Amino acid sequence: MKNVEKYDQRPLLARLLLNVAPLIFILSISQGANGQTLPGDSFQEGTKPGDAVAGKRIYHAACAPCHGKDGSGDGPVAAYLREKPRKLTDGVFKFRSTPSGQLPTDHDLYRTITAGLHTTAMPSFKALAPEDRWDVIAYMKTLSPRFSDASNFPLKPIEIGNPVPQTCPK
Ligand code: HEC
Repeated sequence: MKNVEKYDQRPLLARLLLNVAPLIFILSISQGANGQTLPGDSFQEGTKPGDAVAGKRIYHAACAPCHGKDGSGDGPVAAYLREKPRKLTDGVFKFRSTPSGQLPTDHDLYRTITAGLHTTAMPSFKALAPEDRWDVIAYMKTLSPRFSDASNFPLKPIEIGNPVPQTCPK
């Protein structure tokens, strides 16, 4: 009873903020890390803006051996690889849903990290919890100045039309 009285005595603004906080949280996670969603994209589970501080620890444990401590692509393992790890400091990516020259969306990066890159040493990080994948993406984006340059945004994912209907008889 005492607690209820105490709560009721809070200033109106505090009570209002407490009431809308869950709504703001839900809205922020449903927006996705860049606010972009792709049709038929199955890599959106647990979408949330990542935490770069938490991601830094994951990066150094899981990515730096290949991509290097500061993302220069020169980790100790890199010398042994035929296909060299991407220099994350350049901010240039192959696997994107965006036009040539643009940055990838967070979902593009999530897809790469989740599935890995077939025929290269880039492994799948499906075993990492989705939140950890978003966190490592947030950290990875601090390694290249391109991601903090507002002139690179908003990204414009390429529209993908409907699939061509099947014409063979079943
Ligand atoms: C065993 C080595 C290795 C590890 C560990 C590794 N990578 Fe990679 N990564 C690679 C290689 C090799 C490539 C380049 C593949 C290519 O050229 O197609 C790559 C490419 C990438 C790309 C570029 C995709 C693109 O669109 O161009 C991203 C993003 C990436 N890695 C992120 C990560 C993250 C994040 C981690 C840690 C969670 C990680 N990698 C761990 C080897 C590794």
